[in-house]
Amino acid sequence: GDDPRLRHIKTTIGVVPNFPKPGIMFQDITTLLLDPKAFKDTIDLFVERYKSKNISVVAGIEARGFIFGPPIALAIGAKFVPLRKPRKLPGQVISEEYELEYGRDCLEMHVGAVKPGEHALVVDDLVATGGTLCAAMNLLERAGAEVVECACVIELPDLKGRERLKGKPLYILVEAH
Ligand code: PRP
Repeated sequence: GDDPRLRHIKTTIGVVPNFPKPGIMFQDITTLLLDPKAFKDTIDLFVERYKSKNISVVAGIEARGFIFGPPIALAIGAKFVPLRKPRKLPGQVISEEYELEYGRDCLEMHVGAVKPGEHALVVDDLVATGGTLCAAMNLLERAGAEVVECACVIELPDLKGRERLKGKPLYILVEAH
């Protein structure tokens, strides 16, 4: 984008070939977190977009949605709800399975954390196939919430994850190729 903050953010994201397995170009946001300006600008860009959108819940996806989601929630005055991998949450949960390259995984959300009619933002670090965001949106919709948008730092556009998002808008800061 034209915003110099976006150009700087992009330079801080590491790309690690063949991790965690051959052929994968891993997008590493831990180096973004080491740059306080890039980290702050990342949060500020999301907050500028969402502060006046009447969002009551920010849902963060384990694990890296737990890094970017909470500072956005605090800044816009929303609650934060963690969407966790199986068997991590102590209370009653609803679950959504989704396809991985090999096998399946699952996200869980506490029953009662989100009320019918709430307006939700889903936050993660990266969208690849879109399966994870789709499972997250299904959890929120089953709880009666309206998903306003999904927000990620990075998109791998070649994987066409956007097409799995049931028409919901996806906002990203950086495209990786
Ligand atoms: C990564 C990433 C997203 C997901 C995106 O998480 O942080 O959550 O993959 O992929 P998709 O669009 O194809 O669904 P990962 O599965 O590596 O789990 P982790 O955060 O627990 O390491």
